[in-house]
Formats: sequence, structure tokens, C-alpha cells
Amino acid sequence: MLDIALPKGRLGERVYAMLKAAGYPCPALESPDRRLIFENPEAGVRYFWVKPSDVTIYVERGAADLGIAGKDILLENSPELYELLDLKTGICRMAVAGPADFRDNREKTLRVATKFPKIAGDFYAGKSRAVELIKLNGSIELAPILGLSDVIVDIVETGRTLAENGLTVLETVCPVSARLVANPTSYRFKTEEIRRLAGRLGEEVDHAV
Ligand code: PRP
Repeated sequence: MLDIALPKGRLGERVYAMLKAAGYPCPALESPDRRLIFENPEAGVRYFWVKPSDVTIYVERGAADLGIAGKDILLENSPELYELLDLKTGICRMAVAGPADFRDNREKTLRVATKFPKIAGDFYAGKSRAVELIKLNGSIELAPILGLSDVIVDIVETGRTLAENGLTVLETVCPVSARLVANPTSYRFKTEEIRRLAGRLGEEVDHAV
């Protein structure tokens, strides 16, 4: 049996549909109730819904053999796990955003609000730009509007949130998409099952693009 941590929400549902098409369905999971664990012994899978940012914790600690996590979370937390497959869904980008008329004054420390201090810190370290990182947990777009920061580093998908708050993308940091990740010990002991699932899921990814 493979234990798979799915991120609760739209992305998780999309990836479950791919897993189902790949031969790993779980009819119980499709019923609208509040249970969090579902299994299909015939397909050899047990799924559970977890908060998206917690997926890597379950996989890293071996509570799940496999999981679906965004590249943003992998870059931010550097968990010790194997990244097996780019699922080419949940596609967005990490970007620097701010007011359209923003001009960087390199004489001053740049104040950067973000949910992703490591990604933002690495990005600016690579440019030798001195920054003050302000860690927030959500509604990041407010920070430059209220003068809490000069710019933000955040996920941009459609760009609507930025546009509706009078902000614009200033620079792209990196592309982001969902990845299939594995616990290294699980990979060692369940190599065949995991490779088979990753292979079939990879075929679904290729069909989808
Ligand atoms: C992300 C991000 C932006 C928004 C971007 O937030 O922080 O606010 O999505 O999407 P858009 O470009 O399509 O408008 P999310 O929905 O993940 O919520 P969160 O802030 O609670 O993490």
C-alpha cells in the first residue's frame, strides 16, 4: 500500500483526477464528506488530504510515502525528499511585485514582504542587494500599499490579485508547478510500486500537455 498526501483544494483535486486516470482511483474519496483518509486496497493506495504547506512534513517524516507539493514550498523549506516528477499543473511563478512606478534606490535597504523569506533572501543575495525581509502569512499585497514594505515576493498565477490592488510584476524570480515527491526510505523499500506510479502518472502528464 502506498500512502499519498494530497494537498487539500483545487490543485489536489486536479492531481487526484490524474492519479485516477493513471490507474489509482479511490471511489470513496469522490464522495462529498469530511473524512480525510481514503483507501483503495485493490489499487494499492491510501490517500489523505492535508494542508498544502504541510505535505512535505508528512512525506519527510515518512507518514506518507508520496505527496504532491508546489515547487515554491520545496524551494522555501528544502525538505529531505526526492522530487520525482513535474506534474505541469498548478503552474504559476514566484515574482517581485510593487507599484508600477517603483524605482529601486540601491542606496537604501529594500524592504521586502513575503511568505517565502528563504526564496526572497536567496534571490536578492544572488544580486548582492541588501534587503530587510518582512515575513507575513497572507494578504501580502497589502504591505506596499500601506507602506509596510517597498515590494513583495509572492506567487502570481493570473495576476488578478496584483492588478486589483494596483500592483504589477517587477521581476520574475522562478517558475512554480506541482511536483510528485517521495520519502527517501519509502523509495528504497517500495521502489517498484513508486516507480510504477510515477511512470504512469508521467504518461498522464504527457497526455495533458
Ligand atoms: C496566492 C498569492 C496571491 C494569489 C495570486 O494566494 O499569495 O495572493 O494567490 O493569484 P492570482 O495571480 O491568480 O491573483 P493564495 O490564494 O494561495 O492564498 P494565501 O495568500 O492564503 O496563501
